[in-house]
Amino acid sequence: MAQFTPRVFSGIQPSGGLTLGNYLGAITKFVATQDAGTHETVFCMVDLHAITVPQAPETLRHNTRELCAGFLAAGIDPEKSILINQSQVPEHAQLGWVFNCVARMGWMGRMTQWKDKAGANAEGASLGLFAYPALMAADILVYHATHVPVGEDQKQHIELTRDIAAKFNHDYGVDFFPEVEPVIEGVATRIMSLRDGTRKMSKSDPVDASRINLTDDADTIARKFRKAKTDPDPLPGAPEGLDQRPDARNLVNIYAALSGASVADVLAAHDGQMFGHFKQELADLAVAKLSPVSDEMARLMRDPAEIDRILARGAARAREITVPILERTYEIVGMVR
Ligand code: TRP
Repeated sequence: MAQFTPRVFSGIQPSGGLTLGNYLGAITKFVATQDAGTHETVFCMVDLHAITVPQAPETLRHNTRELCAGFLAAGIDPEKSILINQSQVPEHAQLGWVFNCVARMGWMGRMTQWKDKAGANAEGASLGLFAYPALMAADILVYHATHVPVGEDQKQHIELTRDIAAKFNHDYGVDFFPEVEPVIEGVATRIMSLRDGTRKMSKSDPVDASRINLTDDADTIARKFRKAKTDPDPLPGAPEGLDQRPDARNLVNIYAALSGASVADVLAAHDGQMFGHFKQELADLAVAKLSPVSDEMARLMRDPAEIDRILARGAARAREITVPILERTYEIVGMVR
């Protein structure tokens, strides 16, 4: 096997505002990986993926800049990490086309996200939605990335990325694309809906009260936590007491993630407390932790030209990696260059 530079790639769709789920489940971990300094890090707003379902153009542009502001406000340093918007690095889409020709229809048809998103109306879904995972494979492999931090729901797409790399290497008799490793976030940091602790907190949920947006003000955050779904029992003293209590578990997980303490410690400190009181404390903690981030996002959003400069610079740095990899891919495949 060829040796590859340890490199992390991950992406988030700018298909809505940033939620507490993106922040705790993804972005704060990206920052920790960046700061650990053990890997090169590339973080991406995947605008090409966002348009696999309809997006209003001005909203998409706004959400892309806002996501960039969120990355920066949370501590992604555009000098330490490569921070990009997908469509500004054209090699993603170019390699994506090659991978459309490597991946098989049958593989794509088995993707659970495709089945969920297309639902009963596959005939009416976009071709891009079907090809989504091949573009995702290109996002990762156009950097020869070796590690991809993602949520559990993306694991199947990472396995497909490995299949695409292996088939490409095999068909062309090369050892060119690495075998990527998923870095799956722990269940403990999966942030779920405030209205249904069995479903992921989502920026596309039609019910706004189901999520905390990073742009919510203090009163809104407090109100959403107050109204969050729970059960009538008090907090248990130990993690086993959260079994079969998804809503209770979610609030405790959020508290633990925001405070940096373990779930066991949070429960030991709140043993027997009623949720009414706990939710108030949780709201105060969330406001204290999130308001510096949302204030910084708001400050950055007042100067979109500065965000655009950061993204242009990120794209230029990214292309130092992606252009040679795409060129070599085209050569392998037989394109005249
Ligand atoms: N599919 C991912 C999601 O919805 C987003 C994504 C696109 C991604 N390309 C990626 C994540 C590459 C990791 C690596 O969450």
